[in-house]
Amino acid sequence: MFPEVRLRRLRQSNGIRRMLSTPLPGPEKLIWPTFVIPGENRREPIESMPGQARLSTDKLLIELAPLVQNGLGGVLLFGLADTGEKDSHGSAAYATHGTVQEAIRAVKEAFPQLVVIADVCVCAYTNHGHCGPLNSTGGVDNDASLSILEKVACSMAAAGADIVAPSAMMDGQVIAIRKALDAADYTQTLIMSISTKFASSLYSPFRDAEKSSPGEGDRNGYQAAPGDLRTALRESKFDEDEGADILMLKPALFYLDILSHLRANTDLPLAVYNVSGEYAMLHATADRGWGDLKAMVRESMISLSRSGADLIITYWANQYEQLLQD
Ligand code: PBG
Ligand code: ZN
Repeated sequence: MFPEVRLRRLRQSNGIRRMLSTPLPGPEKLIWPTFVIPGENRREPIESMPGQARLSTDKLLIELAPLVQNGLGGVLLFGLADTGEKDSHGSAAYATHGTVQEAIRAVKEAFPQLVVIADVCVCAYTNHGHCGPLNSTGGVDNDASLSILEKVACSMAAAGADIVAPSAMMDGQVIAIRKALDAADYTQTLIMSISTKFASSLYSPFRDAEKSSPGEGDRNGYQAAPGDLRTALRESKFDEDEGADILMLKPALFYLDILSHLRANTDLPLAVYNVSGEYAMLHATADRGWGDLKAMVRESMISLSRSGADLIITYWANQYEQLLQD
């Protein structure tokens, strides 16, 4: 006890502080989520996400090259559909030669060592914007969604995705996808399950980017309730039991308690998705001169590592050199 014990001794110099600190995650721990659009030479900046854009595949390859060179771990690809392509079941999501499927092929060809992850959901492809087809009462039909998600996952595996990442929050999606992948001989394709995904207010910039807001209603009937800790933990436990290779929590910074709970209760690798609203928040603060962007980004990334994330899916990943490199 004081005065013999003095905790400030442990932080008296930068050298000691640096030794004792959780390191900033290296670029290999980061996964860059980005948006692919059809066509060529297209780059549409997303207003609510400065530094992010919807990219045609040729532009994506150009933007990826220096990131891969710098050691980026992986990329998580989301596709967009034109209004005319959308239908009640989101069938454009599993087109063999769809925009994302072709982008996956191109990225794997250009950068075979980069881990390519494909989002598996249909909300960007349904005309009602929900993550599965609707039943007669207007809710999302869980079991009818599964067969669609299976097709989406197989189309991504066929295109060469290393990992498929189901994000629809349907019960049974992991086991359904595992069985479908195995039946099609994609036994090596990993499933990174977005096992606990909250019905969050932090997805708005993403929905602008993806044009994937639900037309009517919300996602509260399938995404986890922010106030219900125990069900949130069961969601991840179920996905582990269904054979997920990697668990994922989303969003990140408002849910660090869940992250550390999961860390203590699973030996699976854990990913966390630092979502669009978290990205926009720091930008908005910095833009007003109310905080230093680089310092906020670094502190937030350390907090995710410290809380137990092995992998961090973050829009900062395409600015690693500017913001995170020492
Ligand atoms: C849709 C999906 C969402 C995000 C990733 N996949 C939004 C939603 O569920 O409405 C959000 C990611 C982000 O905000 O960065 N399946
Ligand atoms: Zn969805």
